Amino acid sequence: MIASTGSGGEPWPLWVLVGAAALVSGLLVAGPALRRRFPVAWWLCLGFPAAWLRVVRTWRPLMAGCGLAISRKAALTVVSGLVGNGAPPPLPRVPRRGAVRPTTGGFWLLVRLLPGQVPEDFAKASPAIAEAWQVHAVRATPYRPGLVRVVASAADPLSAQQIPQQRGPGRLLRVVVGVLETGVQWAIDLRAVPHWLIVGATRSGKSTLINALVAGLAPQPVALVGIDCKGGMELSLYGPRLSALATNRRQAVKLLAALVDLTLDRMVVCRSAHVRNIWGLPESKRPVPVVVIVDEIAELFLIASRSEKDEAHAAGTALIRLAQLGAALGVFLVVAGQRVGSDLGPGVTALRAQLGGRVCHRVADPGTAEMALGDLNPDALKAAQAIRPEQAGTAVLASGEGWERARSHLITETDAEAVAAEYAHLTPQLPELVDALGGIADKRAG
Ligand SMILES: Nc1ncnc2c1ncn2[C@@H]1O[C@H](COP(=O)(O)OP(=O)(O)O)[C@@H](O)[C@H]1O
Ligand SMILES: [Mg+2]
Repeated sequence: MIASTGSGGEPWPLWVLVGAAALVSGLLVAGPALRRRFPVAWWLCLGFPAAWLRVVRTWRPLMAGCGLAISRKAALTVVSGLVGNGAPPPLPRVPRRGAVRPTTGGFWLLVRLLPGQVPEDFAKASPAIAEAWQVHAVRATPYRPGLVRVVASAADPLSAQQIPQQRGPGRLLRVVVGVLETGVQWAIDLRAVPHWLIVGATRSGKSTLINALVAGLAPQPVALVGIDCKGGMELSLYGPRLSALATNRRQAVKLLAALVDLTLDRMVVCRSAHVRNIWGLPESKRPVPVVVIVDEIAELFLIASRSEKDEAHAAGTALIRLAQLGAALGVFLVVAGQRVGSDLGPGVTALRAQLGGRVCHRVADPGTAEMALGDLNPDALKAAQAIRPEQAGTAVLASGEGWERARSHLITETDAEAVAAEYAHLTPQLPELVDALGGIADKRAG
């Protein structure tokens, strides 16, 4: 039935040869462009089969080479060697693997651990496995007791060309700010994780991430409040879309106190309506969510004189209080800093405990990475310290569940400024905050 041309000794017809030659040369010429244009199709049709073959062929020697195989009946082997009866020594036992399944930019498989092995053994061997499979990276994570999930990414998706951020309101309080290493959208969802700590050295990508966040929140029915004690240099860009902005510590303390009052007022409203959070209130009565963005947290905590000490203390206490009460009452914190260490005072460590979402860009001092990730995941700490200066925008994200590498979309100051101006008409009026700053004049002064 099947045309067996060529195999039975007959020559291939000319048109087949010409067709094949045309196909091959066509692929060689158009290959790189096709690959760039259709990376997923390219990977699934060509890259993945080759990778699959490599995994299948190298599995046994690779496991043995990485010290993940267990030799069988060691004593017998010795004896058989001594007796010299010619029988080959038994092959070592290697962990059993499941099917290799493709993803849009790599593949994954499950591996059953041998007795005495732990998932960390595979995590440690990941770099060697990635080399053998010729992929960008391999991550091994516990799947179920006795099983490890090994995920390979063919190329670094974080170095790929950036997809522009999608515009429009999207889901309330959820913003897609970049891509994860797995190629999946990186979304910051304040309803899932209400408070965030974003750290990174100068020019590591903090402001770009905040730009992305603000650009995503601006079209939503949300109040944005800024605290930027470096004279408002960073956050005043979004001025038209901010409901209030504090540009020095004195203002910050007043604004934070007003925010705590606002939160307490909301608590009274919720209590009298017998609901546990603002989402339980009918939509007409529900107060507007407030996202408080603090740029350069160290400016709030650093003290040069005694009088400043009280101010710093007041700011710290108010922030912690907001974090504790805010989530249920629709007040969310996004705190960014360049150098966030325990040397800034006990308030910082207490505050960190309340900020469940962490983003760590490249950092200049290990203390800051430790502050952002150390209490959640030591592996994440290593990944953060490996970020190079030319990888601005790349960050390690951690929450209670685990960690990932990600990269933010490049949203420039100009973009963010334009979005803020475009949606200025949506800015909710929160007179209680503006009054605390000393009226409209102060808000504009930023
Ligand atoms: N996600 C990104 N993708 C590409 N380049 C980026 C990204 N984030 C930052 N950069 C580059 O790094 C520079 C500094 O970023 P910025 O966000 O201003 O850093 P920071 O606020 O931490 O000092 C930007 O001007 C941009 O050129
Ligand atoms: Mg910055």
